[in-house]
Amino acid sequence: MRLDQFIANSTELSRKEAKRAIGRGEVTINEQICKGANTRLAGDERVALSGTPLSLPGERYLMMNKPAGVVSATTDSDHPTALDLLPAEITRHLHIAGRLDADTTGLLLLTTDGQWSHRVTSPRTDCPKTYRVTLNEPLSDAAAQQLERGVDLHNDPRPTRPARVHFLEDRIIELTISEGRYHQVKRMMAAVGNHVEALHRVRIGQVELDDALMPGEYRELTAEERDSLA
Ligand code: URA
Repeated sequence: MRLDQFIANSTELSRKEAKRAIGRGEVTINEQICKGANTRLAGDERVALSGTPLSLPGERYLMMNKPAGVVSATTDSDHPTALDLLPAEITRHLHIAGRLDADTTGLLLLTTDGQWSHRVTSPRTDCPKTYRVTLNEPLSDAAAQQLERGVDLHNDPRPTRPARVHFLEDRIIELTISEGRYHQVKRMMAAVGNHVEALHRVRIGQVELDDALMPGEYRELTAEERDSLA
């Protein structure tokens, strides 16, 4: 979609007014001023008008407290999916922004906005995800330091990016990572000789799982939560 069309569709401005705002340097793409009204958007850019992040109208942004046993997929012939937990009339074009394993619980984001979900999940945007990890044995200080520096994962040539470890209880930590590799937390714990017994995502960026949501419940994100991930 062209930039001026995107601005006209996502604000009250007409196409002509959108072009003028672009010409005045009021529009940024990925924090850089863009004065080309005919610039083509690939779909994953952060577009803002006078500093306010924009998204197309009619998009949906939800958080769910994912229960265990539910798969992060739109369809699955063998298991219930996160979308099965929502009323059918709101699931059109909805997809998951950052999957969780079937046995992982907690914060799952769902949206119709492909650009937004790309920003949440792209390793380039560095969006931190925090997990409460229950381990089968206490984490040593040495292991925590290894995780904070980055560890080598089995069958993966690149070490993990530095993570943050926060001790909660003897066998329970909060781990913050900014990547989303396959089974990443479980593999990181295996890399330091431990084992995950339970995994619960509590936060993505500044969006916290609403503790009023029981497992399987969902709510719309507030505009503030949505824009904090824009
Ligand atoms: N890391 C995992 O190992 N599993 C998840 O579900 C999420 C992160």
